[in-house]
Amino acid sequence: MNHRTQVGIVGAGPAGLMLSHLLHLAGIESVVLEARSRQYVEERVRAGLLEQGTVNLLIETGVGDRLKRLGLTHHGIELRFGGRGHRIDLSGLTGGSTVAIYAQHEVVKDLIAARLAAGGQIIFEAGDVSIHDFDGPTPKIRYRIDGNVNLLSCDFIAGCDGFHGVCRPTIPAGVLTMYDRIYPFAWLGILAEARPSSDELIYAYHDRGFALHSMRSPEITRLYLQCAPDEDLGKWPDERIWEELQLRLAAGKDWKLNRGAVIQKGITEMRSFVVEPMHSGTLFLAGDAAHIVPPTGAKGLNLAVADVRVLARALTDYYASGNRDLLSSYSETCLRRVWKVQRFSWWMTSMLHRFPDDNLFDQRRQLAELDYVTTSRAASQTLAENYVGLPME
Ligand code: APR
Ligand code: PHB
Repeated sequence: MNHRTQVGIVGAGPAGLMLSHLLHLAGIESVVLEARSRQYVEERVRAGLLEQGTVNLLIETGVGDRLKRLGLTHHGIELRFGGRGHRIDLSGLTGGSTVAIYAQHEVVKDLIAARLAAGGQIIFEAGDVSIHDFDGPTPKIRYRIDGNVNLLSCDFIAGCDGFHGVCRPTIPAGVLTMYDRIYPFAWLGILAEARPSSDELIYAYHDRGFALHSMRSPEITRLYLQCAPDEDLGKWPDERIWEELQLRLAAGKDWKLNRGAVIQKGITEMRSFVVEPMHSGTLFLAGDAAHIVPPTGAKGLNLAVADVRVLARALTDYYASGNRDLLSSYSETCLRRVWKVQRFSWWMTSMLHRFPDDNLFDQRRQLAELDYVTTSRAASQTLAENYVGLPME
């Protein structure tokens, strides 16, 4: 089959789906091509923290009903070190901004439901997706469904296919510059049927390594432990995970982590990566396809949403007036904010983790930094304004 649309979108993650939704609101047609099944993308466990601007955008564009009902609004976070907790009053330090706990796959479910209800086309289980002719005005996406090869012609392609997608690697050598840093550790994460042990998130610095207490609902806790990059999950029976979390998260001898059945377990790699520019001809990259951050600042999804907001506006302007200025400045506009968010994610990661090559000097320096961040208003405010999200543009 050969078919046509205005914007061909590769990937039904938060970036691709939100872009399709925003374009639809502006009267622009798109088709989303996704390698996985609907069930797979709706159940894929990822992070779950939304910046104030992301929350606002979901609500303003009509996809925030479940978020308003089920999302947990958080006004602060806790940094724990030296066996004590120190609260960062996010809303007090930012003039009232908050963050919301709401799982990424719930955002994905809400966006898929909205697109399908509006007659949007999302083609799941599209095989062998490849992109062509994006150096010209009629780029094409080839894909396979049920053994048949299809060709989608479009005016633009949005590469929203994540870090391991096909769009970025298809751009000819020499066009892109890559910047990255791989961290010498990973996170072992679990979801557990346990009541959260605190109302707020706890980021813990500990001699044994970083730990994070987060949540998904009043009944489900999300927890992470710093581990080796090649950690073998088989060596981590549930009991060992709980003991290690208890040790790293403890504040005072009476603090007890609530335990429960572990319903999901996984390893998250830690990497900072940016590609410049975020476009080539009529192909535009957005979200993880263009940049990834270590999860310490919870920025991955929020960055993806910020990119497609800029891209949707640029495409809307182009279709309304024929003006390509916003498309030409897309990459530059996004990258200015992307780099600030990269800096923040790297900084949070560096402050809170044990690095294998660090000596006692480095550990004292990290503790001094944590002490400073939790006692200086200027420093707390810097953390808070980045954590709730820098202005979108
Ligand atoms: N063809 C079609 N679809 C593909 C292909 C391909 N060759 N390769 C990958 N995809 C799909 C993936 O299955 C996934 O559904 O592209 C989608 C990319 O989605 P995400 O990885 O969620 O990336 P993005 O939408 O940019 O969202 C960024 O996701 O990785 C998390 O934590 C990260 O929160 C961040 C967010
Ligand atoms: C999560 O809840 O999954 C989460 C929260 C905050 C982070 C990272 C992950 O910094």
